[in-house]
Amino acid sequence: MAFENLLADRTGKMGVNIIREILKVVSQPSMVSLAGGIPAPESFPLEIIRELTEIVVDKYASMAFQYGPTEGFWPLREALSDYLKKRKINAGAGEILVASGSQGVLDAIGKVLISKGDRVAVEAPTYLGALQAFTPYEPDYVRMDTDDDGLIPGCLENVLASGKIKFIYLVPTFQNPTGRTLPLERRKEIAAIITKHNALLVEDDPYGTLRYRGRDILPIKTLAPDNVVYISTLSKVFAPGLRIGFCHAPEQIRKWLVIVKQGIDLHTSTFNQALAAEYIAGGFLERHLPKIIDLYRPKQDAMLSALDTYFPEGFKWSRPEGGMFLWVEGPEGFDMEEMYWKAVKRNVAFVPGKYFYTSQEEGIETMRLNYTMADEETIDRAVKILSEVIEKQL
Ligand SMILES: Cc1ncc(COP(=O)(O)O)c(C=O)c1O
Repeated sequence: MAFENLLADRTGKMGVNIIREILKVVSQPSMVSLAGGIPAPESFPLEIIRELTEIVVDKYASMAFQYGPTEGFWPLREALSDYLKKRKINAGAGEILVASGSQGVLDAIGKVLISKGDRVAVEAPTYLGALQAFTPYEPDYVRMDTDDDGLIPGCLENVLASGKIKFIYLVPTFQNPTGRTLPLERRKEIAAIITKHNALLVEDDPYGTLRYRGRDILPIKTLAPDNVVYISTLSKVFAPGLRIGFCHAPEQIRKWLVIVKQGIDLHTSTFNQALAAEYIAGGFLERHLPKIIDLYRPKQDAMLSALDTYFPEGFKWSRPEGGMFLWVEGPEGFDMEEMYWKAVKRNVAFVPGKYFYTSQEEGIETMRLNYTMADEETIDRAVKILSEVIEKQL
């Protein structure tokens, strides 16, 4: 029976998540993976989770295990409202939607907003998971130029002037894959541009609180509140397996996000939401976050100093003040995918950067490096091996 014939027209266009495919190769125990984008298991607050579990069962009893409202568990929405106020985002508890990870929000946004052929503007490069969420709804992607400071505002202006754009998707802080952060001045320009064009921006902010140096920068949401869907997650500051993401969207969009979520999963796990509510409201997040930062800062330092020490001339990389990734650019034409397979033979993996572009011809000479999973000594050794593989390929 050829069940392939039964697939919907759009299914074949979805493609596989290449990073997941790459991660299959790197699951061998001897492999050092700088490829993933996942938090260090040591960052999960297991003792706190044990304590929270007891609190949740005592406080909410069977309510924590019952079906709940699609919009989210009320105590979590209240806790998130206070949490967002600290980031200067004014969002009443009743305006916040909880989702199964920020990925759940991205999928719902695609479902609510994208009709076939709609133009969606994305940075080049951009978060692969967002492309995966949007692509089934068959948009036409419009690429926007970036530099070391992220999206170039003039390019956004040109794109918006060129015709109707359904929405703009941005990761302004410690971007995945580049680690780049938009400076405040650019955020102000972008806010002014989207307001002028009455455009909708989807601001995805999973890494903003993972800052190791420098000062916090206001989310674009605070500068153009009516034009921005702000998305964030507890995946990087609590535990990704709990699948707690959330968003604050303009009212006309919010109600449709709720309707499509009813069809997706009715609601996000009530028990996990109750854990998250207590994690935030009980002050556990505030106390635990500095520990995650202290865990990652030396790892990032180790990777930056190994790159400075070993990588050859002609290569440059981002120096983010936080987040989970560094972005390396080689000399023009240097094929990082070819290099990937050579590096894997020497038990070091990374992600070739070309997969983060909407056009496959771009980013051949780029790579994304993650530093959260390995220890400092291993990071140093792995970067040294990468530099040896590069030297040979050069
Ligand atoms: C930019 C960005 N958005 C969204 C996500 C999805 O995160 P989650 O669904 O775990 O909240 C990730 C995960 O790595 C990400 O890097």
